[in-house]
Amino acid sequence: MKEEFEDRAREALVQPKNVGEMIDADSVGTVGSPDCGDMLRMWLKFTEKDGKKVIDRASFQAFGCQTAIAVASMATELLKGKTPEEARNLKPNELSGDLGPLPPMKIHCGQLVEQALKSALDGKEAPAKSPVETLAGNLQPASNGKIKIVPLDETASD
Ligand code: FES
Repeated sequence: MKEEFEDRAREALVQPKNVGEMIDADSVGTVGSPDCGDMLRMWLKFTEKDGKKVIDRASFQAFGCQTAIAVASMATELLKGKTPEEARNLKPNELSGDLGPLPPMKIHCGQLVEQALKSALDGKEAPAKSPVETLAGNLQPASNGKIKIVPLDETASD
């Protein structure tokens, strides 16, 4: 039986990879989707390999849907070893890796990951220097009680 995209995304969510702030990041990018209000931040750490600058590690935090988290998990794995130019040329359907092509309704979820990556590659945002500058730290003061931020480990028992 052909495995559906949703099944593969659900599997990726069981143990998403590279979740969390990267304290020693060289670069960070944060974006929000005007379509759904979700947010995603991506950190990049570079290294040099064979005389070229390449991505050594990537991590992310997301206040977004399951697809955005699953794509970010896949993307942060496949970015390892890519040059900044190679990474910049990756499209949402490539960033989704083993999840396969994104269904039309989920394209903007992949674009959220793509834009966070591009923002991190642009290097205009300084990496956070303390936990209060994480994505959660940024959102909490602005929420005025209207947004409830629930850590992933608390949702497991729901
Ligand atoms: Fe907002 Fe997927 S619905 S990123």
